[in-house]
Amino acid sequence: MLSLPLASAPASAGVAGTPGSPGAGDPYFPTQGNGGYDTQHYDLALDYNPSSNALQGAATITSRATQDLSAFNLDLVDTLTVRSVTVNGAAAAFTQSGSELTVTAALAPGQTFTTVVRYDGKPTHVLDPDGSRDGWIRTSDGVYNANEPQGAMTWYPGNHHMTDKATYRFSVTVPDTRVAVANGDLTSRSSGGGRTTYVWDARQPMASYLTTVSIGKFELTDTTLGGYRTITAVDPKLAGQATGFAARHAPVLDYFSSLFGPYPFSSTGGIVDHEPNVGYALETQTRPIYPRVPSDNLLAHELAHQWFGDSVTPERWQDIWLNEGFATYAEWLWADRRGVRTVQAAFDAAYAVPAGDAFWQTPPADPGGPADLFHDPVYDRGAMTLHALRAKVGDTAFFAILKGWASTYRYGNASTADLLALSEQISGARLDTLFDAWLFQPGKPAL
Ligand code: TRP
Ligand code: ZN
Repeated sequence: MLSLPLASAPASAGVAGTPGSPGAGDPYFPTQGNGGYDTQHYDLALDYNPSSNALQGAATITSRATQDLSAFNLDLVDTLTVRSVTVNGAAAAFTQSGSELTVTAALAPGQTFTTVVRYDGKPTHVLDPDGSRDGWIRTSDGVYNANEPQGAMTWYPGNHHMTDKATYRFSVTVPDTRVAVANGDLTSRSSGGGRTTYVWDARQPMASYLTTVSIGKFELTDTTLGGYRTITAVDPKLAGQATGFAARHAPVLDYFSSLFGPYPFSSTGGIVDHEPNVGYALETQTRPIYPRVPSDNLLAHELAHQWFGDSVTPERWQDIWLNEGFATYAEWLWADRRGVRTVQAAFDAAYAVPAGDAFWQTPPADPGGPADLFHDPVYDRGAMTLHALRAKVGDTAFFAILKGWASTYRYGNASTADLLALSEQISGARLDTLFDAWLFQPGKPAL
């Protein structure tokens, strides 16, 4: 959406400036993200009381203006109350409306600025277009915090579209009886007055839908296994089923590193929280969150996302098959490696869906809309697309494409068109017909 027209044009910033746009331009979620600036770092100081659900936050956000700004927006639901905003240390006027927090500030293009937002309230999750819950999801002992595709705005202000990646520090204070687990590396833990503050540093760029601050009664382990710093948090209710959970990561990461290139992040691990009603796991960066102890397939799926989705992130929600198709294909590869089922058998089983089935009516790279992001065609036909590509270009080129994708777009964003271009460049083959049939056309593609 475009903002107000520019009136006259005096020279200084903020006089000539116009408001940054209230959305990043994603057709599936038009108000997600904002225009006019680019964020580099979030420092989130959160204080949470699980019994009352009272959250107090101070978000210190470092950004750079990309236009002459008179105002800019952050995404934050208005069930949380903003108490003050400063920009570069000076108090700034602000308004809250729906999920848009608008801050008045005059900023010149290229200028780096620091915004501090103080806020509080009782956060609640949002309902996604597909009916699932997303965001700050309360559990019996804390929070199951999963934010794909739009939950981040339920607990902190930010530029919440996947194209604006940033590094993060989370400093989370909870009662001593609880643990706060976030992305990245646990860098300190300090207690006093019955409360403990956990500091987590996510040092590699991250899309905000991959952030998590999960809180609860957890058994926390922090060890280096197979060269990977592995930090796990397991709900004591599930501890009996989670024996060896930490040790299950390194073999999967080793295998995927051999196929996709080096593991992109400074630590790994997972959060196993007892949450029977959420119904989905999420590839939260460095540390996926699971509503139960994951199966081998689910563990492999979420770890594969660390390359495909987390390090290389789509440019828009419509391209979500670049996450789910790749992670599903990685499940097939891992099952083959373990001798459970060959990739070919997995493809054959998926392809056996009859041509008349509704499944084939959804092309994965054009799934329909925001309610269709996590439906089977995105996952299974997405994975079949990769297998069809492999059959066409051969194993050598195919695995060079996977590695090239992970390295070329490491820590960035990419599109389906980028994958086509890279695949053609690496293989030397023309692939537009194959991509079109598998990804964009309804109907069962011929073999
Ligand atoms: N990206 C998750 C995964 O496949 C799935 C997911 C995220 C999801 N949000 C969802 C599935 C909402 C269903 C509903 O690993
Ligand atoms: Zn997935």
